[in-house]
Order: sequence, then C-alpha cells, then structure tokens
Amino acid sequence: MLKKAAVLICAVCLTALLFSLPAIASGGHGKHHQDMKKGILLVTFGTSIEKAAIAFTNIEKKVKAEFPDVPLRWAYTSHIIRTKLAKQGKYLDSVEVALAKMMDEGFTHIGVQSLHMIPGYEYDDVKTNAKLFQNMSGGFTKVIVGHPMLAGSDDLSRVVDNIMTIIPKERKQGEAVILMGHGSHHPANAFYEAMQYRLQLKDPNLYLGTVEGSLTIDDIKAQILKKGIKKAYLVPFMSVAGEHAINDMAGAEADSWKSILTKDGVVCVPVLKGLAEYDGMIDIWVDHLKDVMGHY
Ligand code: CO
Repeated sequence: MLKKAAVLICAVCLTALLFSLPAIASGGHGKHHQDMKKGILLVTFGTSIEKAAIAFTNIEKKVKAEFPDVPLRWAYTSHIIRTKLAKQGKYLDSVEVALAKMMDEGFTHIGVQSLHMIPGYEYDDVKTNAKLFQNMSGGFTKVIVGHPMLAGSDDLSRVVDNIMTIIPKERKQGEAVILMGHGSHHPANAFYEAMQYRLQLKDPNLYLGTVEGSLTIDDIKAQILKKGIKKAYLVPFMSVAGEHAINDMAGAEADSWKSILTKDGVVCVPVLKGLAEYDGMIDIWVDHLKDVMGHY
C-alpha cells in the first residue's frame, strides 16, 4: 500500500515536472536572461610607456579568470595618451567610444570598472557618462561603475596591508619609504591624507606624498631630515610606473623627488613598479567589479 502510494506520488511529481520544464525554459524569467548580454569595460587613465602597460595585462588576466564568459573591453580616459598612441598606430577608445561600440554590439548590462586610485574628477566623469549611456533609449538596460582603489575604510585597510608586503625587503626600520600618489584638487584628495594617516599608524617612517595637492615632497623632506633619516625608498602609489614615476619621482631633473632629497643628503632608491603589478592590489579592483557584476 505504502509502495503504491509512493509510486503514485512519484508519477504526479514527474508529470508536474515534465509540464513545468518547458514553462521554465520559455517563461518570462527565462526570456529575460536569454536577452541579457553582459560586458565589462575596464577604464584607466592610460599610459604611453610600453613597459608600464604590462600592469594592464596583469589586470586583464585576473578579470578574465574571474569572469571567463564575459567579454572585456578597455578604455583610456586620457586624451593626450590616446592621441600619442594613435600616432604609433595603437588605437585606444575613450569611455564614450567604447560604450557606444558595446551598445552597438547589443550588450545590455555593463560593468564599468574604474582602475583609478581615488574617486576624483576622472571617476566623476566616467560615472556621469555611464549614467547618460544607461538612460539612452534603445540601448543598455544597466550600466554600473565600480569603485576605484580607495573608496572606503575597508579599502584603506587592504591597501595599507598590501603596501606593507611590497616594501623592499632590504629596507631597514630607520629608513623612509615615500610613496608617490598623483593627488588632485578634487575633495576626494582626502583619501590620500587618510592613507598617509593609516601608513603612519603602521610605521612612522612611511610617507605618502602627491604630485598635486596637499601632501608635498617639501613637507615630507622636512620631516625626514628632522628625524635624521639618511635613506629613502621611493615607490609609486599609482597603477602604473609611468611618466610621473619615471620623471617626477625618479628622474634626473632638479625638481624630481629623487633630486630634491639627494640634494639634502638623503640616498634615494626608486622602485619603478606600478601598483597594478601586484596581485593583492589588483584584487581590490577585481572585488569592486565583483560587487558590480553581482547585480546582474
Ligand atoms: Co598627471
């Protein structure tokens, strides 16, 4: 009797399952997902230094490993760099051109990942235009922009932890490590100051200065001279070791950080490696992109 009932239930279940299968496949929900075409757009300031661009290859590898089925495109925000590269026959898209092309190819959901350091002017521009693209009729369903490297307290902690691992092993406690960030006149420049504070909590001989903005090399120099520090490692706090790192940080010109410090008796050891050459740093951007793609 029990056995018979079980068989009967099974038959009912099976029938129900068989009837429901086509419904799942052709139902409204299924159709919605069939039409969805996801894409990723990685956005960077860009670089014209070929060696520095290796950092972008690392990022691409990591993003592809995380999203193997999602087509990936690149955009450079810097007009100057795009023009410079075009003269060498290398054509890079702006964010707007890249999005227009993706729209034309029928993408519906775009994850735009900013590979910037702070949510400054460039990030603002990317966000504004991504929103405008989303609102264009007959185009994308959704375009979401992922946070840059530093967008909150958790990011600050992760970045500091990573910086601790990339400091050259030969550096001794009494020697300074000076990171060179870009800096900005945007309110988000405060992220650099927050970063400087976090670094100093870890080790008072770690400094973060910026090419533009409030954290000047002159202030840092005054502090390390006061401490009697005789040696400093110079490390780019930028995604790539590009023009700023090569010239403004480590260059031979009188106004480079290296020259400014050397003149006052501080031996400088520049480390010409961008942050995007370190897996732990890339992971922060990739995690921000994961947050975005999690919406689709
Ligand atoms: Co610059």
